[in-house]
Amino acid sequence: MCGIIGYIGKQQALPILIDGLKKLEYRGYDSAGFAVHSGEGVVVKKAVGQVANLEKAILDSSFQILDSNIGIAHTRWATHGVPNEVNSHPHTDCKQRVFVAHNGIIENYKELKHYLQERGHTFTSATDTEVVAHLIEDFINQGDDFEKALKLALNMLRGAYAFAIIDAENSAVLYAAKCQSPLVIGLGQQEHFLASDPSALITHTKNAVYLNDFEMAKISAGEITIENIRREPTDTKVVTLEWNLEQAQKGNYQHFMQKEIFEGPETVKLAFAGRLHEAGVKLGGLEQVKEKLETIKRVIICACGTSYYAGLVGEYLFEEIAGIPVETHFASEFRYRQEPFEPGTAAIFISQSGETADTLGALRKAKENGLLTLGIVNVVGSTIARETDAGVYNHAGPEIGVASTKAFLSQITVLALMAEYLAKVKRPGLLEELRNIPGKIGAILARASEIEKLAEKYLYHKNFIFLGRRYNYPTALEGALKLKEISYLHAEGYGAGELKHGPIAMIGKEFPTIALVPGNGVLEKMYSNLEEIKARSGPILAIATEGDQHISAIASDVFYIPATLEPLEPLLTVVPLQLLAYYIGAKLGYNVDKPRNLAKSVTVE
Ligand code: AGP
Ligand code: GLU
Repeated sequence: MCGIIGYIGKQQALPILIDGLKKLEYRGYDSAGFAVHSGEGVVVKKAVGQVANLEKAILDSSFQILDSNIGIAHTRWATHGVPNEVNSHPHTDCKQRVFVAHNGIIENYKELKHYLQERGHTFTSATDTEVVAHLIEDFINQGDDFEKALKLALNMLRGAYAFAIIDAENSAVLYAAKCQSPLVIGLGQQEHFLASDPSALITHTKNAVYLNDFEMAKISAGEITIENIRREPTDTKVVTLEWNLEQAQKGNYQHFMQKEIFEGPETVKLAFAGRLHEAGVKLGGLEQVKEKLETIKRVIICACGTSYYAGLVGEYLFEEIAGIPVETHFASEFRYRQEPFEPGTAAIFISQSGETADTLGALRKAKENGLLTLGIVNVVGSTIARETDAGVYNHAGPEIGVASTKAFLSQITVLALMAEYLAKVKRPGLLEELRNIPGKIGAILARASEIEKLAEKYLYHKNFIFLGRRYNYPTALEGALKLKEISYLHAEGYGAGELKHGPIAMIGKEFPTIALVPGNGVLEKMYSNLEEIKARSGPILAIATEGDQHISAIASDVFYIPATLEPLEPLLTVVPLQLLAYYIGAKLGYNVDKPRNLAKSVTVE
């Protein structure tokens, strides 16, 4: 959960490093630092807080004239050691020869630190990362050259890492190594780039190589050698980075989150583009496992956060469209459950980043148990995408805002496509209606100002309950999460049928209900739930279907959305909830793109 950038080549390194850190800052931003080779050896600078503080430190010092063609930099999201300058990366050894920037957690760092201290090493930071610099130093002290020492050190580590490493005695080489945390090498002309993800590379190059687990790269200006530290074969593929810079920029929106909500129509289109055919749904990424899929009797879905709520919608989609029993789990629970698996079980892993540690852990458990594993992932070439047997990319482009919005729409769209793909009897009209969804989302977005006004009315409350049934129960959970993580207000999602089993005790005039009341088979049940709330003076903001004649007599406020088929309702009902959370958070003055305590990609447990 941090951003790593490295450079070696013909240009000045420092500006590239700082620019790269800014593009990676959404991955972690509690402190930042760099190390560059220059005439005076390796120069290091660190600063607490956002990258702008590091940039200021450079401007306030002589670094501005630093002449260097190789360097590494890091923007941190701390796991071990509080966010301060000492604990910022890069970390070094006793002799200040090895400089390491790290994303991940070294799980056995305590025993390594003890071992190294016993051997006379002195530590300056409280991080897990620093042991790596001293471990390399220790092997060098025993007579190994730098590269061999690095390999030996890597083989002693347990846990997750992406490293960018430089050697003070060799300004011609940049080292990289990867295990569980992401790392991608950008390929230039007589120059190479190293980054945690493509957003820091796309202004420099469209060609890249993703490192795989246990691979180490030795990178010079003109050459890259990649080897597996366990002597296993490597399978290096050059990928073309799909994103252009505009996609990764805010455009004319105030925040990435706002931009990404308004990208909803395009996102759904991109999710079904090239996949809707006369004969039905075509999913190229599943072709190689099509036969196996025909024998599937049960599906497990694993994910975290918003992706988990999309998975809960997937449960209804697969059961009611494909006729396949499904259970959806939090990945963090699934990976530690002791459950029996029957033959004919497939496991689907939903992850926008493709790097979420718990989802990756659940995936690896499923593979160990011989399950067919499928991914629904947004980031091309990411770890979960590469480790699943097959999968379907979202093609949603970068989602920079920490709060996931467009990815949720994309995930549900892909789940609907997969359900239809697996269905023995196709759901009439579903695919035709799916084509109408982008336009219907657009119609909702065109009335965003109505939601903005509602946000102004409701933002004074401190507690909210979100209610829904069936496909809109997970959507209610997602709406509550959006509000929580953006506005820091307390919000709870609930199945409306559960109201009388406890939550109704909270209802009063200071406790508003956000209710999803689209016109479907349980509409009457929702009306009854809302009447009970109204009778107890609870304010109600209802998201209802155009033409509903009853809801306005029950709810305090109503926002109408277009009608659609019940399985596709979440694609419409979630949009006002995303907007509501966005406007409340923004109007409360919070940084909606980088909410406190959160990072975009949770690559540690
Ligand atoms: C959602 O708004 C949060 N940012 C978070 O819950 C996120 O959905 C979760 O961490 C899963 O991330 P992933 O989809 O990249 O695996
Ligand atoms: N575990 C390391 C630290 O706490 C790296 C954290 C990160 O991935 O940013 O410094």
